[in-house]
Amino acid sequence: MELRGVEDYDAMSVLAAQTVYDKIVNSERLVLGLATGSTPEAMYDHLAEMLNENEVDLSHVYTVNLDEYVGLADDHPQSYHQYMDTLFFSKVNIPKDHTFLPDGSAQDLEAEVERYEQLIASLGGVDLQVLGIGRNGHIGFNEPGTPFDSRTHVVDLTETTVNDNARFFDTVDEVPKQAITMGLETIMNARSILLLVSGDEKEEALECMIDCEVSEELPATILQLHRDVTVIADDEALE
Ligand code: F6R
Repeated sequence: MELRGVEDYDAMSVLAAQTVYDKIVNSERLVLGLATGSTPEAMYDHLAEMLNENEVDLSHVYTVNLDEYVGLADDHPQSYHQYMDTLFFSKVNIPKDHTFLPDGSAQDLEAEVERYEQLIASLGGVDLQVLGIGRNGHIGFNEPGTPFDSRTHVVDLTETTVNDNARFFDTVDEVPKQAITMGLETIMNARSILLLVSGDEKEEALECMIDCEVSEELPATILQLHRDVTVIADDEALE
């Protein structure tokens, strides 16, 4: 695991954008795994700017997102579909049919998780997976206790995660209580991983991810077992 410490959120975002940009321009074909949440917001901004300034063609890039809430329509303002459209896809020239997220409004959720896992496999797997980390050590929406051999599945969100995500909704009651997420094995199958960590509320989770014994109680510790993980963390998260 390579740990790169940077001064602040913006420095983290610029370095992350540069890392993804380099991967895009140096690949003949690329499957990017993407994350949502507050952490990568500015990375998407910088990345879109770099891609547009340099008129980079994205027809060789495919994206698969980590997760989506269950029960929100694609056009719900807080759905991850909307997040990705607003913050990234609508700003760059990626073909829309190269971008994929789990369908949280699917009638048959079991069929949907199977479809999504197959889709990732049919794309040839993820080359570079961008991740954030929850205060409780979750990656994707794999909450503490999720089996390490999990594939894409439906998850009941913990109270911590529902409360953490309430800031995006008018009231906590509006936060969906379930999500579809890539599993821990799905994430570990990515050929390389880029984990972004910012802010002092992530300090404990980051420290434990690096130093604690590998355990399903802190899902992110599984990353200690991956061959190619880069962590970009800012001073507040590292202090
Ligand atoms: C988002 C995701 C989550 C977030 C994590 C941190 O797609 O899978 O694991 O990365 O909850 O969220 P923020 O960045 O909002 O602190």
